[in-house]
Amino acid sequence: MPNQPKWQKIKRDFCAPDRPDFLSAWRTYGVVLKGKTWTEIRDTLSPYPFTDAERCPAGVAKHLRWAADNVGSTPPTDWPHAYAQPGTGADKAQIDRKRDLASTKVEKKFTDDNHMSVDVRAQHLVMNLDQLADVANLDLDTWRVKDGKVNTWTTAMKVKRDGVETPEVVRNWQVTANLVRRLDGPDGGFRPVIGTPNLRVERSTPQAVKTAVIIPDSQNGYIRDFDNDTFIPIHDRRAWDIAVQVVAKVNPDYVVFLGDMLDLAEWSTRFPREAALENTTQTALDELHWWLAAVRAAAPHAKIVYIEGNHESRVQRALVETMNHAAGLRAVNDTEPAMSISRLLDLKSLDVEYVGPYGEDYYLWGDGPNVGHGTKARSGVGSTITGILKESHHSGYTGHIHSVEYASKQIHTHRGPKIITAASIGCICRVDGVVPGVSTKTNWTQAVGVSHWDGEQDFLEVVPINNGKSVFRGEMLVGEERVEEIAAALRKPALICG
Ligand SMILES: [Fe+2]
Ligand SMILES: [Fe+2]
Repeated sequence: MPNQPKWQKIKRDFCAPDRPDFLSAWRTYGVVLKGKTWTEIRDTLSPYPFTDAERCPAGVAKHLRWAADNVGSTPPTDWPHAYAQPGTGADKAQIDRKRDLASTKVEKKFTDDNHMSVDVRAQHLVMNLDQLADVANLDLDTWRVKDGKVNTWTTAMKVKRDGVETPEVVRNWQVTANLVRRLDGPDGGFRPVIGTPNLRVERSTPQAVKTAVIIPDSQNGYIRDFDNDTFIPIHDRRAWDIAVQVVAKVNPDYVVFLGDMLDLAEWSTRFPREAALENTTQTALDELHWWLAAVRAAAPHAKIVYIEGNHESRVQRALVETMNHAAGLRAVNDTEPAMSISRLLDLKSLDVEYVGPYGEDYYLWGDGPNVGHGTKARSGVGSTITGILKESHHSGYTGHIHSVEYASKQIHTHRGPKIITAASIGCICRVDGVVPGVSTKTNWTQAVGVSHWDGEQDFLEVVPINNGKSVFRGEMLVGEERVEEIAAALRKPALICG
């Protein structure tokens, strides 16, 4: 390593403007940089800072270029700056600054939202990536330098100082860098290349997709409280109210009552009938008619279908078993048996079609999903619908088991693959064990269904009801008893309990 006096002599002898051949001096004095790493070169030069580098800019530039050629790579970005800082002196700095700014050219190119390249050409001013950021006005909190390159060369030019033009060798710099937006930048960070997809909602016309609301077992009926002379409902008025709200919101083409809308406990010929269940049928018919009328009001243009369940069939069975001559008896000029459920509920006045007898199938929209009350009930959650689906080649919705069960499968038809769904929609009766014939701890669940039909396949929404509440399409629905309203309409104050 050369000693200090020798270096001073190099500077004095070879770095003057008229002796710019610093490289040959460097070689002459035996400082061989070839084959050294940049770290070694920096260590070699560190005792000799170019505090007065303007005296030998060409020499320094040549030295760097030579070193770069021999080392085989670009100098570290912060390295040349430490050795090539323009000299001190307020006047000179000011002049140089003006000159540098005037000569600086900044070019930015955005490849996309997250990538940018910057090219700065300057004299003296830009000599490393930090200064590049300053000159190009880059926010390094937002952008990260991915890679960069520094080129430098010298040109001769005249610089005016105190009115006197002096020939000077000027260092030129080109600093280029590729930048990428930081992941956690203050502007929100890296933006996904794919961007945010446009919201694409194809709204079908009402004619394109048909809708049906499916309302399962309500088991309307009462247990009489003789002490207080009141009728305790076994149907759940809050669940009924939610069903009406769903119908009103959907405004469907179809409403389907899945059967067992009446419990008709006192008509059972199989189970013992408690005194508390006696003389409740008329009130049950009256109140159910009120709820059916509420649904009709909520869907004035819908086709409404009432499927017979096993509980409705109790009336006909009881008549056949006890008074066969009365079963099927019609009033003169009437087409319906006098004791039919349709007649008893006056469904005609509500334009509701009654589908019976119990077990009858009904297909929505001709070829749409089958709706039926259901005739099977297997023990074990999910087992009833699993069994039905196994044998099915068509979508179908049932009630009867009072629990929501849902399963679907793909089948392969001559028209191609098709998804079919089997679902038990649950019930809207009380699930706290008050319905006659069940244990006090049931596993029943309340819901209504909303089925969509596009002409080829069905799409079922199950809308669960839990303790008088439901969330339907993001909106909380709260059911109300409406008992004062019903009692007033039916003129039966005994409906109001407690
Ligand atoms: Fe049933
Ligand atoms: Fe039922």
